[in-house]
Amino acid sequence: LLSQIGPDAHMRMILRKHPSERAADDLEIIYEELLHIKALSHLSTTVKRELAGVLIYESHAKAGTVLFNQGEEGTSWYIILKGSVNVVIYGKGVVCTLHEGDDFGKLALVNDAPRAASIVLREDNCHFLRVDKEDFNRILRDVEANTVRLKEHGQDVLVLEKSLSSSRTSVHGASSSHYKYKVMSGTPEKILEHLLEMMRLDSQFTESDSALDDFVLMHCVFIPNTQLCPVLMAHYHAQASQGSEQEKLDYTLNNKRRVIRLVMQWAAVHGEHLQEEDVSVTFLEEFLLAVSSDAKAILPLRDQLTELERIVKRNTDNARSSQKKHKVLLRQFSMGDEKLQKRQPIKSHDEILFKVFCCDHTYTTIRSPVAASVREVISAVADKLGSAEDLLLVNLSSAGEKVVFKPNDISVFSTLTVNGRLFACRRDQLDSLTPLPEQEGPSSGSLAGFELMSSKDVAYHMTSYDWELFHCVHELELIYHTFGRKNVRKTTVNLDLFLRRFNEIQFWVITEVCLCSQLSKRVQLLKKFIKISSHCKDYRNLNTFFAIIMGLSNPAVSRLSQTWEKLPSKFKKFYGEFENLMDPSRNHRAYRLTVAKLEPPIIPFMPLLIKDMTFTHEGNKTIIDNLVNFEKMRMIANTVKIVRYCRSQPFSPDSPLASKNHPEVRSYVRQLNVIDNQRILTQLSHGLEPRRS
Ligand code: CMP
Repeated sequence: LLSQIGPDAHMRMILRKHPSERAADDLEIIYEELLHIKALSHLSTTVKRELAGVLIYESHAKAGTVLFNQGEEGTSWYIILKGSVNVVIYGKGVVCTLHEGDDFGKLALVNDAPRAASIVLREDNCHFLRVDKEDFNRILRDVEANTVRLKEHGQDVLVLEKSLSSSRTSVHGASSSHYKYKVMSGTPEKILEHLLEMMRLDSQFTESDSALDDFVLMHCVFIPNTQLCPVLMAHYHAQASQGSEQEKLDYTLNNKRRVIRLVMQWAAVHGEHLQEEDVSVTFLEEFLLAVSSDAKAILPLRDQLTELERIVKRNTDNARSSQKKHKVLLRQFSMGDEKLQKRQPIKSHDEILFKVFCCDHTYTTIRSPVAASVREVISAVADKLGSAEDLLLVNLSSAGEKVVFKPNDISVFSTLTVNGRLFACRRDQLDSLTPLPEQEGPSSGSLAGFELMSSKDVAYHMTSYDWELFHCVHELELIYHTFGRKNVRKTTVNLDLFLRRFNEIQFWVITEVCLCSQLSKRVQLLKKFIKISSHCKDYRNLNTFFAIIMGLSNPAVSRLSQTWEKLPSKFKKFYGEFENLMDPSRNHRAYRLTVAKLEPPIIPFMPLLIKDMTFTHEGNKTIIDNLVNFEKMRMIANTVKIVRYCRSQPFSPDSPLASKNHPEVRSYVRQLNVIDNQRILTQLSHGLEPRRS
């Protein structure tokens, strides 16, 4: 009999038995069959034996039968024994076909997410093995294949990899951890689709939302707003094409709510940057229109509508008013330090008045948008000079070093060296450019006034200035800076100014010490700088703390052995500890450990964060095999999130009471006068304490 119906039929008979009725022999037979199934080949013997006890046989007679619909809760995982199925996605249709030996349906189980696609039989008489959710979770969840590649029309569109995810809030309050699939790479559209599907509408925050957050932060690198906006709109209008009326309605509502939530998050992350882009503003307006008209029929959408209205209104109002009046900034971005009003972030449309010098040290003042390209600046200069010659735009440092800007560079004003100036000249004049006398910096120190200021006041006012600069830096500037702002044509002016401040402080420390001719006063100065840095550290201002310590460890200062010898041992000990914090070994471990213990508000050591991002950027491709390397995006976004964490609390220390009454300290720290020429500083240092022979 057995030979008549064949091993297949015998297998089927056994598989049709309820798992609890399978005898040891049956299990052995099933097990041996499993050894030939492609979808299980990576699993261990033990797992296959366990599976033999739970697998269920399922067959369907008619092509067109729907096994499950996109958006439904996932209840089982399937392996195709015979026949083939179509994978169907709303708005896209059939994206791929799966055949004998393929498996499907584990995404929803592993990620606790709705079904990412509908599965429709492609031919009559298809046979499947099925593992239901509970068994799957018990036996397979954590041993399932590490990588899943989803295809559409024969091309990989999404690569997922399993990783341990710990959800902080489980039902029992204890933290549970298990494996989930996270996005490694994909096409921008598919990544977005996947993350939207994974979004939880019921909870405040989940790990998949953090991936969405990464997407929202980083998308400018791989899908600019001009492309993203239409995709979002299309998503919003996606319709279910299968299932009952109720199922279709559920899908539509859920889908719309997800997209609305995403759009609100997108608007929040972009903040004021949105208003600079017409596409984004127009999109917001159209999106709001679509949602308000839907909300008339779909009542639950009204919850989100109010908030969306508020966000859209704020952005569009601002966009209109800011187009009319661009701020005009003063030369060198000083923005009138005397004004006590709070510093506002500089926008790329803001205009700046800037001096551009010629070879003969005459200058012309040009007025241009902050984000102007070098080409635009040159043509403004040429207009003023009435010259049609090919001009170069150069950053000339006080030491006479020249950096010629490229025509496509943008927003170069904020990238000049501390005492650098912008020069315009013909190519044949380049060699004859000489720095202006004013670039040399001061010839005497500010000790007389500085001596009278308390270290704590100085640290306080420096920190509060740093906070203003740091606060103005937009998260996206960090990304533009990392990926090269000319590639995205965005300015990073606020970040540039903050980074420049770091250099300025270093040179300030070196300048003051090197301009102090009296040994005993110099010792006082060292003490004072060490005290200021210590107060900065107490204010959790690690940026200035580092800048001061780096200034003190500059060769021009550190070689002054007579001065250091006279420093009281208490100060030497402090300085030694501070220097250790700066130790770059093991990837700045000392600093990272220290900062990890701090609570916000924190001003981090910014150059290190920048270095981390640049490293990640340079060490990893953005596109791999035509797919966006999302792992890289996640890594860079994590550094941005450190910055977000540092600023998550406002800076409001118990200011030294007197500080408010010290406008001279406030304006002193905001207008540091420095020598930024290392050669001059070294010369001065040798003048103070000649090399001992
Ligand atoms: P799940 O989301 O549980 O249900 C639908 C299944 O279709 C999904 O798991 C994948 O296993 C499978 N699938 C195959 N190709 C694709 C694709 N391009 N997009 C989404 N799902 C796909």
